[in-house]
Amino acid sequence: MSRRSDTYDPKQVALLDQASLDEAVAAAQKAFAAVSDVDGLIALRHQHLGDRAPVSLARREIGALPPQARADAGKRVNEARAAIQQAYDARLAVLEEDRARRVLVEEAVDVTLPGDRRPRGARHPITTLMERIADLFVGMGYEVAEGPEVELEWANFDALNIPPDHPSRGLMDTFWVATAQTFANGLVATAPENQLGTGSGLVLRTHTSPVQARTMLERQPPIYVVVPGRVYRTDELDATHSPVFHQVEGLVVDKGITMAHLRGTLDHFARAMFGENARTRWRPHYFPFTEPSAEFDVWFEAHRDGPRWVEWGGCGMVDPNVLRACGVDPTVYSAFAFGMGIDRTLMFRNGLSDMREFIEGDVRFTRAFGMEVA
Ligand code: PHE
Repeated sequence: MSRRSDTYDPKQVALLDQASLDEAVAAAQKAFAAVSDVDGLIALRHQHLGDRAPVSLARREIGALPPQARADAGKRVNEARAAIQQAYDARLAVLEEDRARRVLVEEAVDVTLPGDRRPRGARHPITTLMERIADLFVGMGYEVAEGPEVELEWANFDALNIPPDHPSRGLMDTFWVATAQTFANGLVATAPENQLGTGSGLVLRTHTSPVQARTMLERQPPIYVVVPGRVYRTDELDATHSPVFHQVEGLVVDKGITMAHLRGTLDHFARAMFGENARTRWRPHYFPFTEPSAEFDVWFEAHRDGPRWVEWGGCGMVDPNVLRACGVDPTVYSAFAFGMGIDRTLMFRNGLSDMREFIEGDVRFTRAFGMEVA
């Protein structure tokens, strides 16, 4: 800053020279016009309006002028500064509006674009079908009962009146479970000859019927239970067989239960699953644990090959031997039971032809069923 001097001529201080001030204004206007975004403009602010900007330095020189020269110099500096400020504000307004317009365009959401949706898994149709069936029976006052998949040979066979020489006890159908003890006893090696398993007394349950025995032992009649579950048989995996599949079992133990109740229950079940015109048709059959026994078909109108009877499950009045083995007095109570394969039901209900799809875990298969809500 120049020292104050009474002889000082403002026109001689270069910074206060009108041409210099005009030049500072012109330089600022030109620079502001050249930037194309708000951030760029803000970056220029210091240079043209900050402490070290020409107009700011010029203002500092005013104090050093003789008093008579200050008013004129101050007015001109202020005008120059105001012109720069105005150019700045005007440019800022334009650039901010530009930015706002660009944001509107660039950040607009095009609702017609395909979504960026994460593929989600879907619940397995076997699971949803089992739950749907359980729900139906819960709605009729039944409880859901469950049992272990590694089951006592006794519950899977003996309690159900299946004698030791019954073919389904043989190794052809049953996965026998070896324990450390059975290995230690060397029984595994001899088992295939005597067809009586490993001697461990444990099997992978071959049906959900052992849960009948467990339920009767655990609860007092009246008993109304539905039993969804996974079961195992030594079948090779192919389009219509799987060593692991699913059943739903029903058991009712009460006073005065007859086959008419069983029939009505299954017909209601059929209608709930397959529509108003569905009903069951029974064929005499043999199960060791029911007497009389029947296999039943369901009339299914939406079958992919046209309306027809489809084999659906087995049922009967629980054999008095089974009731006795499970602590229920057959002179007081009678009972019905039924069971059907879930995998098979899903196949004919949904027109599926290959069971292997159930276990391959390909999400395209499960997704096709969506999130079915019962
Ligand atoms: N447990 C039988 C099966 O697996 C089905 C069944 C259940 C039959 C209950 C009668 C009563 O084939």
